[in-house]
Amino acid sequence: MLKLAIDFGTSVTKIFKLGSGIVLAEATCVTVTKDSGEVRAFGNEAKRLLGKTAEQTDVCFPVYEGEIVSEKLAGALLAYFLKKVTGGKTSVDALFSVPCGCSVASREKIYRAAKAAGIARVSFAEVPFLSALGQDVPLSDSNPVFAIDIGAGVSSVAAFSLDGIIAGLSMNVGGNNMDIHIIDHIAENFNLKIGSLTSEKLKNTVGSLVEDDNQSTIINGRDIQTGRPRSVTVSSSDIVFPIRVYVDKIVEYADLVLKKLPAEVSAAMCKNGLYLSGGVCGIAGLPEYVAEKMQMEAHISSDPQMSVVLGGGRAVGNAALLRRIRME
Ligand SMILES: Nc1ncnc2c1ncn2[C@@H]1O[C@H](COP(=O)(O)OP(=O)(O)OP(=O)(O)O)[C@@H](O)[C@H]1O
Ligand SMILES: [Mg+2]
Repeated sequence: MLKLAIDFGTSVTKIFKLGSGIVLAEATCVTVTKDSGEVRAFGNEAKRLLGKTAEQTDVCFPVYEGEIVSEKLAGALLAYFLKKVTGGKTSVDALFSVPCGCSVASREKIYRAAKAAGIARVSFAEVPFLSALGQDVPLSDSNPVFAIDIGAGVSSVAAFSLDGIIAGLSMNVGGNNMDIHIIDHIAENFNLKIGSLTSEKLKNTVGSLVEDDNQSTIINGRDIQTGRPRSVTVSSSDIVFPIRVYVDKIVEYADLVLKKLPAEVSAAMCKNGLYLSGGVCGIAGLPEYVAEKMQMEAHISSDPQMSVVLGGGRAVGNAALLRRIRME
């Protein structure tokens, strides 16, 4: 039986195949014909059409804020990804990563979509465990770890050991909030209407929490007064506010989690530092910013967006470990 770790993210689906490594990272996106409900395009091909489709086509994201909102589209998209990575021939045993504290109802939705996609065996593990494993953090019963994952639609914060979550939560805050806020911010300050692909690209290229960072880029949009196309140069400092607001929110929640910990755990946490993962951690200066705010050392891997699926890959390759971290 082929073993996979699947991170069915709000923005990007990542798949790890045991024996091969990461075999897929594509937008969790489909396009649908309005009248017939037929799915036309999948993954990256579908996302490229965002904001560019005519009346007859909808661009849909079947996972919203970490939770499946359309089981039908989620199942179809998973089936497409599976076919890509397995050729559709083998029986599959898949471990899905889910946000910290994910409800039974949310997991049932993933279960049904996975079954519809033809996955034979389905299990679940919470993001913080996988994030740490993906960063090669040794997990034990006695050494607690503190991890923060910042995704597109949901962020998870938890202090945990191999014995389980000591304190943790997930919140519907992430990169998508930043993208939407950047659209409003550019409209207000530059009189320019931009689309969500442009906004995301802007965040990912010049978004920065480094003080006085002055990287810049040229973006295109529609002038709000004249309705004509126009381009402007936007720099890091122009969009720092809509990024910082959400990072501050996540730090606020992380602080709440820390305050709930027993004294011994708290002390260990401060000594070990915190482990960051998730695509949004690619923002320049974010690890240093969080470290400063939390007054703790912040560790991060060279590819934070892949930490969770890499951790999933480690777990599916180690039955004893998987038994410990799998959700019942
Ligand atoms: N270099 C970068 N700088 C800033 N943000 C980035 C960068 N690269 C990707 N992102 C953002 O990271 C997010 C995607 O990260 P990730 O893949 O961890 O999320 P996800 O797993 O799809 O979502 P979630 O975990 O919330 O369900 C998107 O908002 C994307 O724009
Ligand atoms: Mg994620």
